Amino acid sequence: TQMNRYRVALIPGDGIGKEVVPAAVRVLNAAAELHGGLQFDYQMFPWSCEYYLEHGEMMPKDALQILSDFELIFLGACGYPSVPDHVSLWGMLIPIRRGFQQYINLRPVKTLRGVPSPLKSEKAGEIDFVVVRENSEGEYSSMGGRIHEGTPYETAVQVSYFSRMAVERVLRYAFDLAAKSPRKRLMAATKSNGIIHTMPFWDQVHREIAKEYPDVSTRVMHVDALAAYFVLQPHELDVVVASNLFGDILTDLGAAIMGSIGMAPAANINPERKYPSMFEPVHGSAPDIAGRGIANPIGQIWTAKMMLDFIGEQELGAKLLDAIEATLVSGRVTPDLGGRATTEEVADAVIHHLLGRE
Ligand code: NAI
Ligand code: MG
Repeated sequence: TQMNRYRVALIPGDGIGKEVVPAAVRVLNAAAELHGGLQFDYQMFPWSCEYYLEHGEMMPKDALQILSDFELIFLGACGYPSVPDHVSLWGMLIPIRRGFQQYINLRPVKTLRGVPSPLKSEKAGEIDFVVVRENSEGEYSSMGGRIHEGTPYETAVQVSYFSRMAVERVLRYAFDLAAKSPRKRLMAATKSNGIIHTMPFWDQVHREIAKEYPDVSTRVMHVDALAAYFVLQPHELDVVVASNLFGDILTDLGAAIMGSIGMAPAANINPERKYPSMFEPVHGSAPDIAGRGIANPIGQIWTAKMMLDFIGEQELGAKLLDAIEATLVSGRVTPDLGGRATTEEVADAVIHHLLGRE
């Protein structure tokens, strides 16, 4: 049989990233074994805050060139208490996301059997939607500055910018996803009452693109009201599209309603596949529990499932999600979900269910 081979750059990063990435790689290899015609060739890179403390940079200058030889990047998390968060974010994640035009950040929100949502709603078990977050511009911009520092006139300015090209492409991606979803619904986050230049522009482009998708029922909602909607009626959502900042905030809320931030998966996608796409869970490096072997690996494993979907192995991806769910139902879970299992034991259980071994 013919082997489909993929080159995967592994960047475990810091803290629990170094624990959940190896666990998820074991699961990925088990999935490849189950498939029979799939192989992942890994190369590990130590780029992280620890690397920064030693070398003065999060990753080497030619990092993007090195990574461009890979189809996939599988990342844990970066962040370390002694390195400011803006250094780690702007020194590694943002250069990779932007350099490789990973302008779609995809974050599924789904409740799984075996994990009660903290929401009391009887429909909490039916939550199943995806957030499409703009990942290349918007509020997360390096434009702006500080002036009159140390004086009473001290001022900080941060410019957010919305380009027609980027707004159109993220909205179109979201409409495409909604058109393929069962209920064909798209919710767009706005804040055009308070933010009076960029957000009315976002809404206008949304109206224009909506005309191309007559089958999709779409609405816009102010992001504050949408935050409440995430808590009160999340089962009504199908696809949500949001700017960089709004999407970031909404998806932490999304992770919370799933039961633990340790479960939420994410992908940074270059839809044209001209550059590698990067798969990394929503959670960070969790320094408060790092080094104890108790981090929940489900977020990283579910992220691996998104990687399988991305390379066209949706059937295998669905089997992996079933194995995750079976593990959760069995109660073999980490302390964040009220269990006593270790990271490795959870990964073992997922592999066990995936391969169907007794
Ligand atoms: P965090 O996600 O690391 O932790 C928040 C809380 O959730 C902590 O109590 C942590 O123990 C818990 N938690 C997170 N993941 C878990 C898992 N897999 N299993 C069990 N519990 C888990 O967010 P926080 O504390 O705001 O940030 C910590 C560091 O991570 C910071 O340096 C931050 O900049 C960085 N960070 C990095 C991200 C990335 O690499 N994409 C994303 C978010 C934060
Ligand atoms: Mg976030």
